Amino acid sequence: MRYKDLYLKSIEIIRKNQSNYGLYIASPNFNNYKYCWLRDSTFIAYSMDLCGNNSSSRKYYCGINDILKVRSKKVEQLIDTYNKSGFIDKKNILPARFSLEGKITGTDWPEFQIDGYGIFLWGLVKHLEITGELNLLETTFKDSIDIVVKYLTNFWNVPNYDCWEENGDRINTSTIVCVYGGLKSILGTKKDKIITDSCDKIKTFFHNFCVKNNHIIKYIGAELVDSSLLWCSVPFGIVDAEDYIMLNTVEKIESLLSKTGLKRYYMDEYYGGGEWPLLTAFLGWYYLTIGNIRGARKMLKLVLKSADKNYMLPEQTPFNLYFPEKYYFWKNKWGEIAKPLLWSHAMYVIIYCLLQRERNIKNDS
Ligand code: BGC
Repeated sequence: MRYKDLYLKSIEIIRKNQSNYGLYIASPNFNNYKYCWLRDSTFIAYSMDLCGNNSSSRKYYCGINDILKVRSKKVEQLIDTYNKSGFIDKKNILPARFSLEGKITGTDWPEFQIDGYGIFLWGLVKHLEITGELNLLETTFKDSIDIVVKYLTNFWNVPNYDCWEENGDRINTSTIVCVYGGLKSILGTKKDKIITDSCDKIKTFFHNFCVKNNHIIKYIGAELVDSSLLWCSVPFGIVDAEDYIMLNTVEKIESLLSKTGLKRYYMDEYYGGGEWPLLTAFLGWYYLTIGNIRGARKMLKLVLKSADKNYMLPEQTPFNLYFPEKYYFWKNKWGEIAKPLLWSHAMYVIIYCLLQRERNIKNDS
């Protein structure tokens, strides 16, 4: 199988699985993933931006914009209730996922996951930078941005579910880092006192509570790392990629969570705790950032290897499992591991494009 074949197939899979409303399904063949998650979808949109399919990502951002702008009142109410009583009224939160027509799903899924909204702001700014239309932040997208900024600046330090939809009673490091990255992206386009203050507070909080024994920790009170901590440097930049706490964190992620690909966290039970191609790609992205091109290429190859003969990438591969019996438990409960997972394909496209760009720069110089 060739690198380029998987690249082209990935774009095809992503485009085919975008709804008329602009939303990307997490996985078309897995019942519980027949929705659009903001987290997955924004990285998917970014992959479309990198490979020149900007109309696909524009459709996504317009779809989310329409969904969000009508929720302004609910967010105001949510903040008001919270400020008066400290109570988070779940019926007014911004959900983690939507139906493909942009509706609330009405299931009992843990919806209070604010990381996706930080990722959304980051992705939207990237999209408009790439298309050269940052002015739309103040027009077309203004209402939805204002709502999300209000939401994040009020709730960044309130416990909510992490990017793996777990630990809802914790303050999860990768979540606050996504919030930071999103707010900071907006700040890169305009001056705003509330956003500046929030970013400063988040950064101070991060250094005071999310770093222990010279490395970053999964959530406040934890000892261990999580692969999503890679996002602290790239793409969300709360620490420099070569800062010693980041280097120590990556070293821990590599030694604890990586064998032939990257796992989410130590003793993960979901489908036995296999290796996630999308995380392997994130490690490649990190390597690229610190100039380790060879490492990045190796990660690209590992992701390629996890595709099946039809060029489909799964959510995880059941290798080096912590709990083989849990693999069967989840398989009986929810079916085979989700495949194709659009987020996995998107991450392959991202790292493929970034490596390609690196090569062009080299050839040019
Ligand atoms: C993952 C989430 C993801 C969702 C949809 C969950 O199993 O933990 O990160 O957003 O699936 O792909």
